[in-house]
Amino acid sequence: MSACFLHHPLRCRPRPQLSAGYLIFSLLISSVLIARPAVLDPCSPSASCGQGLYCGNCPALGKNQPVCTRGQATVPTSIIGGLPFNKYTWLVTHNSFSIVDSPPLPGVQRLTFYNQEDSVTNQLLNGVRGLMLDMYEFNGDIWLCHSFRGQCYNFTAFQPAINTLKEVEAFLSQNPSEIITIIIEDYVHTPKGLSNLFARAGLDKYWFPVSKMPRKGDDWPTVNEMVQQNLRLLVFTSVASKEAEEGVAYQWKYMVENECKRFKFID
Ligand SMILES: *[C@@H]1O[C@H](CO)[C@@H](O)[C@H](O)[C@H]1NC(C)=O
Repeated sequence: MSACFLHHPLRCRPRPQLSAGYLIFSLLISSVLIARPAVLDPCSPSASCGQGLYCGNCPALGKNQPVCTRGQATVPTSIIGGLPFNKYTWLVTHNSFSIVDSPPLPGVQRLTFYNQEDSVTNQLLNGVRGLMLDMYEFNGDIWLCHSFRGQCYNFTAFQPAINTLKEVEAFLSQNPSEIITIIIEDYVHTPKGLSNLFARAGLDKYWFPVSKMPRKGDDWPTVNEMVQQNLRLLVFTSVASKEAEEGVAYQWKYMVENECKRFKFID
């Protein structure tokens, strides 16, 4: 993917947790004396931010001291329900798997850009409803890698894709009215590799079939219809031939993108 604005290695690290006793004590003190800090207010480990906010360092914003940052998005269906799926704006994370602090392969120094801090499960819990995943063949399986030239290396590898897809499966089964979109930058060449992978992760039961996808700018079904039919997973691939070969929708038949191609560092 070449959306350059998302390739900045933005880092807002959460502060380390304090011991519970000290935290409760200081919360009592601070709630008596001062209002809880709001977004971008300075904070310290001894003063908690308001609800849904984290106290973190964000040098990318030019902040040298910890500030309260927002870690949650409002899911649009909680504001208005029942519209066609395409009438909503959903928060999607780019390279959702390229997470700071993900352990590298044993004995390998990872060399790549990081895009996220939350685990995929926490991204979903915090309101993300779309994941952009780069899938490669690697080590005899399909892996998530933040790599280049269509090839995954041990220093660009994150983990087998099935692990992340199982997180998605757990979220969909625990949240029966939520819908997730997965957009794959697809370097998988094994025939039926993707459809087998999603079936192994238990996601085939949620798969929204290509045959039901609208053409020519028609509206999608409503979110209620998708929930009632339990077709709550939309999967798109960057490889056109896979739509006919294995029923994975070709992304550019259904989507448009505002391109931003001045700098291209890494796929
Ligand atoms: C990483 O992969 C290279 C080949 O691409 C190999 O030579 C090297 O031993 C691997 N490193 C580890 C620690 O497995």
